[in-house]
Amino acid sequence: MKPAVPPSPPVSAVRGEIVHFLADPAHHAHALEHFADGVLVVRDGHVAECGPAAELLPRLPAGTPLADHRGRLILPGFVDTHVHYPQTDIIASHGEQLLEWLEKYTFPAEQRFADPAHAAEVAGFFCDELLRNGTTTAAAFATVHPASVDALFEAAQARRMRMITGKVLMDRNCPDFLRDSAETGYAASKALIERWHDRGRLLYAVTPRFAPTSTPAQMRLAGQLFREHPGVFLQSHLAENRAEVAWVAQLHPEARSYLDVYAHAGQLGMRAVFAHCLWLDDADRRRMAEAGAAMSFCPTSNLFLGSGLFDLRRAHELGVRVGLGTDVGGGTSFSMLQTLNEAYKVLQLGGQSLSAAGAFHLATLGGAHSLYLDDRIGNFMPGKEADFVVLDPRATPLLARRSAACATLEERLFALMVLGDDRAVAATHVMGTPAWRRPGP
Ligand code: GUN
Ligand code: ZN
Repeated sequence: MKPAVPPSPPVSAVRGEIVHFLADPAHHAHALEHFADGVLVVRDGHVAECGPAAELLPRLPAGTPLADHRGRLILPGFVDTHVHYPQTDIIASHGEQLLEWLEKYTFPAEQRFADPAHAAEVAGFFCDELLRNGTTTAAAFATVHPASVDALFEAAQARRMRMITGKVLMDRNCPDFLRDSAETGYAASKALIERWHDRGRLLYAVTPRFAPTSTPAQMRLAGQLFREHPGVFLQSHLAENRAEVAWVAQLHPEARSYLDVYAHAGQLGMRAVFAHCLWLDDADRRRMAEAGAAMSFCPTSNLFLGSGLFDLRRAHELGVRVGLGTDVGGGTSFSMLQTLNEAYKVLQLGGQSLSAAGAFHLATLGGAHSLYLDDRIGNFMPGKEADFVVLDPRATPLLARRSAACATLEERLFALMVLGDDRAVAATHVMGTPAWRRPGP
């Protein structure tokens, strides 16, 4: 009998123009690594090596499959730090600001997730749409229904994506059909954590919708869940809209600020992610920085719902972790390229300028860092999970024309984020395996 030889892990490689970040370009001069003709070697779903083709190609084991993407850019998969999968079908709903928009469009759409078949169908579409847009990791809201969490985790698991999600907690100021209670919300969340958290690439987030829709008792229990389960995330909304901020002040006269309500409930800490963070003061920002909590900057949503302008410079100055979020369906695109385009414009209105390097860092390693996942994803350091996106600078006639006129990498990246969208995503790979390829020649 032959001795059993363990099969060697499968190796594959991709060739193209590689761009990734080793650090934050705002703080490090050589944070961006660029190989004009590069090769990324993947072994067993993880990055084995990344470097110049001239150096790596001769060393590849004979017969290694090599995908040739010369003329295209290869970047780490995008990280969407805030999105709502149940709002896929209400994207682009006309005419309201946050609180009216929730009542008129969001709550009725979320009611449909009481039906697990509906949840499964939307979750599949949502994950496919993320992949079509080059997004391989997301922190997503589900609905109050525990089965809506099962549906998204199952869809992400089938595609091997990194997914953070959780059951929405909401026990007041909402329609009866979406209301849980402090106790049932706690018990259902705990059961979901036990079923899903840290299973493969899936991670659980305790998900109080926002301060107005949870009683103080539910807020306390959400904080308790967050503390009782190390490694679990917490996601919520914070200081998005002025009427919302005034409402929180009315509900919590004892609190110094909106943020104080979360802090008081024990919800501030590492792996806590708060969407929007528009109407904060520096004391709040410092408190978030000290706690290690993250802000999710959601520019398309902030413009669409007329919420306000995010202050990225101040967040950076005070050392707060920041990621980028599409916030679909308040946000208007699943494309992280389009989200960067709008981020640039929001910052222009605030007298700030986002560089292309800063932008792509935010969409990749910066997002991963904000979620404490930068040891696993976000760039092509050996050992990282091999999620990547292949971007085509000639995807449309206008993008091709503008790209041809660019003199520098920075200019080409900027044209891609301003003019690019899902059409520019030629392929998306998850753990080294193709998960999406744009049809065509
Ligand atoms: N605040 C509370 N719930 C929501 C939501 O679903 N979307 C947005 N943008 N803000 C919220
Ligand atoms: Zn949101």
